[in-house]
Amino acid sequence: MQLEPTTANVLDAYHLLTGVVTPRPIAWVTTISPAGVVNLAPFSFFNVFGANPPVVVFSPTNKRDGSKKDTLLNVQATGEFVVNVSVADLAEKVNLTSRELPPDQSEIELAGLHTTPSLKVKPPRVAEAPASLECRVLQIVPVGTGAIAANLVIGEVVMIHVADEMLDAHGRPDPRKLRTVARLGSDFWCHTSDLFEQKRP
Ligand SMILES: Cc1cc2nc3c(=O)[nH]c(=O)nc-3n(C[C@H](O)[C@H](O)[C@H](O)COP(=O)(O)O)c2cc1C
Repeated sequence: MQLEPTTANVLDAYHLLTGVVTPRPIAWVTTISPAGVVNLAPFSFFNVFGANPPVVVFSPTNKRDGSKKDTLLNVQATGEFVVNVSVADLAEKVNLTSRELPPDQSEIELAGLHTTPSLKVKPPRVAEAPASLECRVLQIVPVGTGAIAANLVIGEVVMIHVADEMLDAHGRPDPRKLRTVARLGSDFWCHTSDLFEQKRP
Protein backbone atom coordinates (compact mmCIF):
# COMPACT_ATOMS: atom_id res chain seq x y z
CA MET A 1 0.00 0.00 0.00
CA GLN A 2 0.98 3.62 -0.41
CA LEU A 3 -0.29 6.81 1.14
CA GLU A 4 0.41 10.44 0.39
CA PRO A 5 -0.05 12.26 3.70
CA THR A 6 -1.04 15.63 2.21
CA THR A 7 -4.23 14.14 0.75
CA ALA A 8 -4.88 11.47 3.40
CA ASN A 9 -6.89 11.34 6.59
CA VAL A 10 -4.71 12.46 9.53
CA LEU A 11 -5.52 9.38 11.60
CA ASP A 12 -4.60 7.02 8.75
CA ALA A 13 -1.24 8.73 8.40
CA TYR A 14 -0.77 8.65 12.19
CA HIS A 15 -1.36 4.89 12.37
CA LEU A 16 1.00 4.17 9.48
CA LEU A 17 3.74 6.41 10.88
CA THR A 18 3.56 5.04 14.42
CA GLY A 19 3.47 1.49 13.04
CA VAL A 20 6.57 2.03 10.93
CA VAL A 21 8.78 4.21 13.15
CA THR A 22 9.36 1.62 15.85
CA PRO A 23 10.34 0.94 18.53
CA ARG A 24 9.98 4.38 20.09
CA PRO A 25 11.41 5.09 23.54
CA ILE A 26 8.89 6.47 26.01
CA ALA A 27 9.59 9.70 27.89
CA TRP A 28 7.55 9.68 31.09
CA VAL A 29 7.34 13.41 31.61
CA THR A 30 6.72 15.27 34.85
CA THR A 31 5.76 18.93 34.67
CA ILE A 32 4.24 21.32 37.16
CA SER A 33 1.33 23.66 36.51
CA PRO A 34 1.42 27.34 37.51
CA ALA A 35 -0.99 26.33 40.33
CA GLY A 36 1.55 23.74 41.56
CA VAL A 37 -0.16 20.51 40.39
CA VAL A 38 2.34 17.84 39.30
CA ASN A 39 1.45 16.33 35.92
CA LEU A 40 2.76 13.03 34.58
CA ALA A 41 2.25 11.57 31.08
CA PRO A 42 4.05 9.28 28.60
CA PHE A 43 5.31 10.49 25.21
CA SER A 44 6.82 8.19 22.58
CA PHE A 45 7.50 10.99 20.13
CA PHE A 46 10.80 11.33 21.95
CA ASN A 47 14.54 10.95 21.65
CA VAL A 48 18.00 12.35 22.48
CA PHE A 49 19.62 14.51 19.80
CA GLY A 50 23.05 15.55 21.03
CA ALA A 51 25.35 15.68 24.02
CA ASN A 52 27.06 19.07 23.88
CA PRO A 53 24.88 20.45 25.32
CA PRO A 54 22.79 17.37 26.08
CA VAL A 55 19.49 17.83 24.28
CA VAL A 56 16.23 15.86 24.16
CA VAL A 57 13.06 16.48 22.17
CA PHE A 58 9.54 15.24 22.77
CA SER A 59 6.24 16.17 21.17
CA PRO A 60 2.96 16.62 23.03
CA THR A 61 0.78 16.78 19.94
CA ASN A 62 -2.47 18.73 19.78
CA LYS A 63 -5.49 16.80 21.04
CA ARG A 64 -8.02 15.49 18.54
CA ASP A 65 -10.05 18.71 19.02
CA GLY A 66 -6.93 20.79 18.28
CA SER A 67 -6.45 21.98 21.88
CA LYS A 68 -3.19 21.71 23.84
CA LYS A 69 -2.34 18.93 26.33
CA ASP A 70 -1.57 19.84 29.96
CA THR A 71 2.10 18.91 29.52
CA LEU A 72 2.50 21.44 26.69
CA LEU A 73 0.66 24.16 28.63
CA ASN A 74 2.92 23.49 31.64
CA VAL A 75 6.22 23.61 29.72
CA GLN A 76 5.06 26.77 27.97
CA ALA A 77 4.25 28.36 31.34
CA THR A 78 7.25 27.15 33.37
CA GLY A 79 10.01 26.22 30.88
CA GLU A 80 10.92 23.07 32.81
CA PHE A 81 10.26 19.31 32.68
CA VAL A 82 11.70 15.98 33.80
CA VAL A 83 11.98 12.88 31.59
CA ASN A 84 11.69 9.71 33.69
CA VAL A 85 12.59 6.39 32.04
CA SER A 86 9.85 3.89 31.27
CA VAL A 87 10.95 0.46 32.46
CA ALA A 88 9.40 -3.01 32.45
CA ASP A 89 8.38 -3.05 36.11
CA LEU A 90 6.49 0.24 35.68
CA ALA A 91 4.94 -0.37 32.24
CA GLU A 92 1.36 -0.65 33.51
CA LYS A 93 1.68 2.55 35.51
CA VAL A 94 3.23 4.34 32.52
CA ASN A 95 0.17 3.38 30.49
CA LEU A 96 -2.22 4.38 33.27
CA THR A 97 -0.78 7.90 33.41
CA SER A 98 -1.77 8.50 29.77
CA ARG A 99 -5.33 8.93 30.99
CA GLU A 100 -6.67 12.44 30.42
CA LEU A 101 -7.34 14.04 33.80
CA PRO A 102 -8.54 17.58 34.52
CA PRO A 103 -5.56 19.95 35.03
CA ASP A 104 -6.20 20.16 38.81
CA GLN A 105 -5.78 16.36 39.26
CA SER A 106 -2.43 14.57 39.33
CA GLU A 107 -1.65 11.29 37.54
CA ILE A 108 0.91 10.61 40.29
CA GLU A 109 -1.79 9.72 42.83
CA LEU A 110 -3.89 7.97 40.20
CA ALA A 111 -1.03 5.52 39.56
CA GLY A 112 -0.02 5.17 43.23
CA LEU A 113 3.41 6.67 42.52
CA HIS A 114 5.63 8.96 44.58
CA THR A 115 7.80 11.94 43.71
CA THR A 116 11.20 13.05 44.85
CA PRO A 117 12.54 16.61 44.42
CA SER A 118 14.66 17.49 41.43
CA LEU A 119 17.92 19.34 42.02
CA LYS A 120 17.81 22.01 39.30
CA VAL A 121 14.17 22.29 38.18
CA LYS A 122 10.82 22.61 39.95
CA PRO A 123 9.01 19.56 38.49
CA PRO A 124 9.85 16.56 40.69
CA ARG A 125 11.15 13.18 39.53
CA VAL A 126 9.15 9.97 39.72
CA ALA A 127 10.71 8.30 42.77
CA GLU A 128 10.11 4.79 41.39
CA ALA A 129 11.88 5.49 38.06
CA PRO A 130 15.50 4.25 38.00
CA ALA A 131 16.69 7.14 35.81
CA SER A 132 15.55 10.72 35.20
CA LEU A 133 16.68 13.73 33.18
CA GLU A 134 16.03 17.21 34.54
CA CYS A 135 15.43 19.56 31.59
CA ARG A 136 15.05 23.26 30.80
CA VAL A 137 13.17 24.26 27.65
CA LEU A 138 15.38 25.73 24.92
CA GLN A 139 12.66 26.13 22.31
CA ILE A 140 9.12 24.99 21.54
CA VAL A 141 8.48 24.57 17.82
CA PRO A 142 4.85 24.07 16.74
CA VAL A 143 4.60 22.24 13.40
CA GLY A 144 1.17 22.44 11.78
CA THR A 145 -2.26 23.12 13.26
CA GLY A 146 -5.29 21.06 14.27
CA ALA A 147 -5.54 17.45 15.45
CA ILE A 148 -2.27 15.58 16.16
CA ALA A 149 -0.11 18.48 14.97
CA ALA A 150 3.35 18.37 16.55
CA ASN A 151 4.77 20.65 19.19
CA LEU A 152 8.48 19.95 19.43
CA VAL A 153 9.66 20.66 22.95
CA ILE A 154 13.44 20.98 22.78
CA GLY A 155 15.04 20.70 26.20
CA GLU A 156 18.56 20.95 27.56
CA VAL A 157 19.34 18.26 30.11
CA VAL A 158 20.69 20.04 33.18
CA MET A 159 20.91 17.06 35.55
CA ILE A 160 21.10 13.30 34.95
CA HIS A 161 20.09 10.76 37.61
CA VAL A 162 20.72 7.02 37.27
CA ALA A 163 20.29 4.58 40.16
CA ASP A 164 23.67 3.01 40.98
CA GLU A 165 22.29 -0.51 40.69
CA MET A 166 21.48 0.14 37.00
CA LEU A 167 25.15 0.73 36.10
CA ASP A 168 27.68 -1.66 34.58
CA ALA A 169 31.32 -2.03 35.61
CA HIS A 170 32.21 1.08 33.57
CA GLY A 171 29.61 3.24 35.28
CA ARG A 172 27.27 3.24 32.26
CA PRO A 173 23.60 2.25 32.28
CA ASP A 174 23.39 -1.50 31.69
CA PRO A 175 20.43 -2.26 29.39
CA ARG A 176 20.07 -5.70 31.00
CA LYS A 177 19.43 -3.97 34.33
CA LEU A 178 17.51 -0.90 33.17
CA ARG A 179 15.02 -2.95 31.09
CA THR A 180 13.37 -0.03 29.27
CA VAL A 181 10.13 -0.60 27.37
CA ALA A 182 9.20 0.98 24.05
CA ARG A 183 6.19 1.68 21.91
CA LEU A 184 5.33 -0.11 18.65
CA GLY A 185 2.32 0.24 16.33
CA SER A 186 -1.30 -0.29 17.48
CA ASP A 187 -1.39 -1.06 21.20
CA PHE A 188 1.85 -3.07 21.13
CA TRP A 189 4.80 -2.33 23.35
CA CYS A 190 8.11 -4.18 23.54
CA HIS A 191 10.64 -5.18 26.14
CA THR A 192 14.32 -4.62 25.52
CA SER A 193 15.29 -8.12 26.62
CA ASP A 194 16.24 -9.62 23.22
CA LEU A 195 19.67 -8.01 23.05
CA PHE A 196 22.65 -8.57 20.77
CA GLU A 197 26.02 -6.84 20.63
CA GLN A 198 27.88 -5.43 17.63
CA LYS A 199 31.20 -3.62 17.90
CA ARG A 200 31.38 -0.34 15.97
CA PRO A 201 33.50 -0.75 12.80
C1 LIG B 1 3.08 4.80 25.55
C2 LIG B 1 2.39 6.07 25.19
C3 LIG B 1 3.02 7.01 24.40
C4 LIG B 1 2.39 8.22 24.09
N1 LIG B 1 3.05 9.13 23.30
C5 LIG B 1 2.49 10.33 23.04
C6 LIG B 1 3.22 11.31 22.29
O1 LIG B 1 4.35 11.12 21.86
N2 LIG B 1 2.60 12.51 22.09
C7 LIG B 1 1.36 12.79 22.59
O2 LIG B 1 0.88 13.89 22.40
N3 LIG B 1 0.66 11.88 23.30
C8 LIG B 1 1.21 10.68 23.55
N4 LIG B 1 0.52 9.75 24.31
C9 LIG B 1 -0.77 10.14 24.87
C10 LIG B 1 -0.58 11.04 26.09
O3 LIG B 1 0.15 10.37 27.10
C11 LIG B 1 -1.97 11.46 26.64
O4 LIG B 1 -2.58 12.28 25.68
C12 LIG B 1 -1.91 12.17 27.97
O5 LIG B 1 -3.23 12.29 28.48
C13 LIG B 1 -1.31 13.55 27.88
O6 LIG B 1 -1.32 14.06 29.19
P1 LIG B 1 -1.44 15.59 29.56
O7 LIG B 1 -2.71 16.13 28.94
O8 LIG B 1 -1.46 15.55 31.04
O9 LIG B 1 -0.23 16.27 29.00
C14 LIG B 1 1.10 8.50 24.58
C15 LIG B 1 0.45 7.55 25.37
C16 LIG B 1 1.07 6.34 25.68
C17 LIG B 1 0.37 5.32 26.52
